[in-house]
Amino acid sequence: MRIALASDHAGYDLKARVADYLRARGAEFEDFGCGPGESVDYPDYAARGARAVAEGVCDRAILVCGTGIGMAMAANKFKGLRATPCPTEYAAEMARKHNDSNCLTLGGRTHAVELALAIVGIWLDTEFEGGRHARRVQKIRDIEDANCK
Ligand code: RB5
Repeated sequence: MRIALASDHAGYDLKARVADYLRARGAEFEDFGCGPGESVDYPDYAARGARAVAEGVCDRAILVCGTGIGMAMAANKFKGLRATPCPTEYAAEMARKHNDSNCLTLGGRTHAVELALAIVGIWLDTEFEGGRHARRVQKIRDIEDANCK
């Protein structure tokens, strides 16, 4: 699994900790910015990470801003992206099991580091359950196909 990683300035420090965690796990990832000490606009970096998933360059994305909210809003504008802010470990588990989340968003100002890393681990290790949830995720795709150009 290849992971796209990106943040704005508010998510930069947590992104660096997530990168360390991914490295320690031996996970393959690419950092799409931003760099240290920059002040940037989160949609620009959400777009870099989300585009990598939409175009098949990466399988999943982890995006970090102040709250995880703006990153999710922007990433979900990309076809095929299912970006989920996950404030808890339970939310991360359900985002994978029921929603087949392919983009985790985190908040550098809202998540303690240890909690964020636990959430990343659960999100990476939990499989989609399929079944009735596959039908529901397909309905999200149908909405996208019918309403987004
Ligand atoms: C940046 O100050 C902040 O607004 C941004 O990181 C994010 O929280 C938006 O959703």
